[in-house]
Amino acid sequence: MTPDPAETRPGPADLEATPVPLLAAEDVTLAYGRVPVVHGVGLAVEEGGVGLVGESGSGKTTLARALLGLLRPRSGKILYGSRDLAAMGRRDTARFRAAVQPVFQDGSEALDPRMRVGSSIGEALTAHHRLGRAARAERVAELLTDVGLDPALAARRPHQISGGQRQRAAIARALAVDPRLLVLDEPTSALDVTVQARILDLLDALRDGRGLTYLLITHNLAVVDRLCRTSHVLFAGRVVECGPTRELLTRPAHPYTMALRDAVPAIGGAPPRATGRTEAAPAADGCPFRLRCPLAVDECRTRAPELRPLDGRRVACHRAEEVLSGAARR
Ligand SMILES: Nc1ncnc2c1ncn2[C@@H]1O[C@H](COP(=O)(O)OP(=O)(O)OP(=O)(O)O)[C@@H](O)[C@H]1O
Ligand code: SF4
Ligand SMILES: [Mg+2]
Repeated sequence: MTPDPAETRPGPADLEATPVPLLAAEDVTLAYGRVPVVHGVGLAVEEGGVGLVGESGSGKTTLARALLGLLRPRSGKILYGSRDLAAMGRRDTARFRAAVQPVFQDGSEALDPRMRVGSSIGEALTAHHRLGRAARAERVAELLTDVGLDPALAARRPHQISGGQRQRAAIARALAVDPRLLVLDEPTSALDVTVQARILDLLDALRDGRGLTYLLITHNLAVVDRLCRTSHVLFAGRVVECGPTRELLTRPAHPYTMALRDAVPAIGGAPPRATGRTEAAPAADGCPFRLRCPLAVDECRTRAPELRPLDGRRVACHRAEEVLSGAARR
């Protein structure tokens, strides 16, 4: 039997080598028709979790779809362990589909509106385990309990439970196949603010209890700070800064990360107020952020900044040193 690609790890001879990430995008470009949306993005989902942060339309879901194998890159690769997703055989693809599970905004995508919640979860179980009827019902009840729901809710349909309960049920369905990684796309943004923090508590507990890794997509840096050790900040389909989440939150080196940090609502708190900043389209030449950047200088118009290492992170800004030191002036 071929080993699970994601379990391919360095042998004793290369113990010093970097471990193979569970899932990674390598220089990935994605487009819808002729419209490019994600440009040459690299991202590795490692233990400790990764956050993908950026405003609406920045390409977060598009990149997530590619990482889930639902969208083919125009160029670059998606790697599961050390294997290219596009070249994997049926058996490895089936393993990948169980190991990497999506959780979307409010749970309704995961649950068939015509089916009882328990049947939706049971269906996922049946696809991956051979279980008799009684054992399946028992496992569904266990999963519902694990996500903090009364097992009696198995008899309800999705519209007969609350938004928060629906998201918990969707998480239970994702957990049914014993995944290693959850791709969480704005898992709390459709929920009432008071429910958001409780779902984040649940995700926190599940990660520790089940050894899960998260790729968490959100516009809120404070949310990723709770659940992900590192983060990538995406602007107009490009990574503009990546590194330890806490560093990005407390000492951003890119003006866009700084703007996101300043707009952060407290977890479970009110959404940010409008900053009055213009929502200019990304610039076609030079730095894509320059038309919105309060620190733009001539060089930003003539030369696109490359993603480069700086002080424990990578950042694409000509003035990153000044931003980091607090010396940047308009
Ligand atoms: N199926 C599609 N066909 C064509 N264009 C699309 C499609 N889905 C998304 N787009 C476009 O691609 C860009 C990136 O969209 P995407 O959904 O990845 O953004 P996002 O960062 O997830 O935004 P949000 O925070 O609003 O969910 C947007 O300009 C969007 O209009
Ligand atoms: S390169 Fe220039 S325009 Fe782009 S973020 Fe940095 S300062 Fe702003
Ligand atoms: Mg999205």
